[in-house]
Amino acid sequence: MTEAILLVGGKGTRLRPLTVNTPKPMVPAAGVPFLTHQLARAKAAGVDHVVLATSYLAEVFEPYFGDGSRLGLHLEYVTEDEPLGTGGAIRNVASRLRSGPEDPVLIFNGDILTGLDIRALVREHETTGADVSLHLSRVEDPRAYGLVPTDPTGRVQAFLEKPQTPEEIVTDQINAGAYVFRRSVIDTIPAGRAVSVERETFPELLAAGAHLQGMVDSTYWLDLGTPAAFVRGSADLVLGRAPSPAVPGRRGDRLVLPTAVVAPDAKLTGGTVVGAHARVAEGARVGGSTVLDGAVIEPGAVVTDSLIGKGARVGARARLTGVVVGDGAHVGADNELRDGVRVWCDATLPAASVRFSSDQ
Ligand code: GTP
Repeated sequence: MTEAILLVGGKGTRLRPLTVNTPKPMVPAAGVPFLTHQLARAKAAGVDHVVLATSYLAEVFEPYFGDGSRLGLHLEYVTEDEPLGTGGAIRNVASRLRSGPEDPVLIFNGDILTGLDIRALVREHETTGADVSLHLSRVEDPRAYGLVPTDPTGRVQAFLEKPQTPEEIVTDQINAGAYVFRRSVIDTIPAGRAVSVERETFPELLAAGAHLQGMVDSTYWLDLGTPAAFVRGSADLVLGRAPSPAVPGRRGDRLVLPTAVVAPDAKLTGGTVVGAHARVAEGARVGGSTVLDGAVIEPGAVVTDSLIGKGARVGARARLTGVVVGDGAHVGADNELRDGVRVWCDATLPAASVRFSSDQ
């Protein structure tokens, strides 16, 4: 059926330090690089040709995914010399598309975990004859997103990026990061310079009288841009709350990759993932967390809703809640870290040096 463009070139600043060595779409969620889930879902919806628009750490994608045949896809890679933004990236890959001018082309942000009915979005696009169709999701607090109010037929009326005042919050429908473009519309985006599809292309199309159609689909949707959202998404994949054909194992409370070593009395709950060659020692408790390849959780440590980077170490009896530990970092024994702390890659925190609660 269709071809798709995946935008995977962003710097992923909100996810640092996990994105210091790894681009966001390659950070493992439920045991495989996050992008695998998106590619598998696209394939399941009938997509056969995918162009990856890369920029930041572009060199790591192709060695992992190759020509895509392992996933039953034909994959191509296009790297920007300078980051071109979301719209510029779409324009920059246009020469690789095989679709005719009237054909639908799918476009996905590379950091969205969703149960969107992709085929339904394409159908909506075709039946309404729109120039661009957008997946819209409803969220309780839309301030961090782009609002997309529509008329009763679903036709987009405006684009309001990151509204702040109550007057600006005119709808709970947000741009969910999946689009269908009529191929010829892609060719109208200016080439060779940075363009934001959200801030520039969509508002300009609307002002020029183009038909932009919004389709609200309220199934699972999560923007994995922040550490808290990323661990939540990974856990939801393991628990089976978020759909993906690419989770390597059965759905349940935990996913332990084959070469990981977990002590018999360690407790893994809430969709925790333990990566290849990682170790969880006796008496440790790990809940709702992602422990990446080669990381070590020492005896009696308690790790909740946290992301532990590749080869990192969490010392004995340390307590971590809502924390990111960068690749190769060492959190010494008896530390207590909470609420958004980011331990940088290769940093060492001496034993018992940070607490939140009193030591008495
Ligand atoms: P933050 O820096 O944390 O905001 O993350 P990000 O860099 O991923 O930016 P954002 O979440 O706004 O990007 C949305 C999607 O577009 C992601 O899938 C990015 O990988 C992608 N993207 C953003 N900027 C570019 C770019 O300049 N080139 C390409 N190819 N993709 C981009």
